[in-house]
Amino acid sequence: MKNVVIIGFMGTGKTTVGKMLAQRLGFNFLDLDKEIERSQGILIREIFEIYGEERFREIETETIRSFKDKSNMVISAGGGVVTREENIKMLRENGIIVSLTAEPEVIFERVKHNKDRPLLLTSNPFETIKTLLKSRRELYKNADIEINTSNLSPLQVVQEIVDGLDKRRK
Ligand code: S3P
Repeated sequence: MKNVVIIGFMGTGKTTVGKMLAQRLGFNFLDLDKEIERSQGILIREIFEIYGEERFREIETETIRSFKDKSNMVISAGGGVVTREENIKMLRENGIIVSLTAEPEVIFERVKHNKDRPLLLTSNPFETIKTLLKSRRELYKNADIEINTSNLSPLQVVQEIVDGLDKRRK
């Protein structure tokens, strides 16, 4: 069975949904950001602060490469994974890509009290979300299943993914 890879902007529910989906499918769960923090022994926020975004992107790609041949996994990717084409290409080789979306207002509400997202530590995070979302919108469409999570509970999102996976098997 192929992996299920969850992509989408920050705050679309990738980690919460990914964990629940893995349980439902009896798959292992991998959060790429958590794996990066574990392997580097440093927080994502600190990687950005000390080494910069470009270095983070290199580590992200290396991490994807190291998991590329695994199967039966639900993998939640960081929001920026789509910015490098080779990431999606590798993840697609052995995985079905599920894209979670949400309206910028919803994303802002979900992330506004969290200080762990370096790209949103700006003077106007809502504007940053809108701008970044706009620049990535087309990239998030490059998926097998797309779900707008704005008005859904995590459990409902999981159900939609399961339905989407079932449909693809028929
Ligand atoms: C990023 C999203 C973050 C994390 C890093 C960069 C992005 O992951 O990888 O802060 O570029 O959108 P989440 O989407 O899990 O917050």
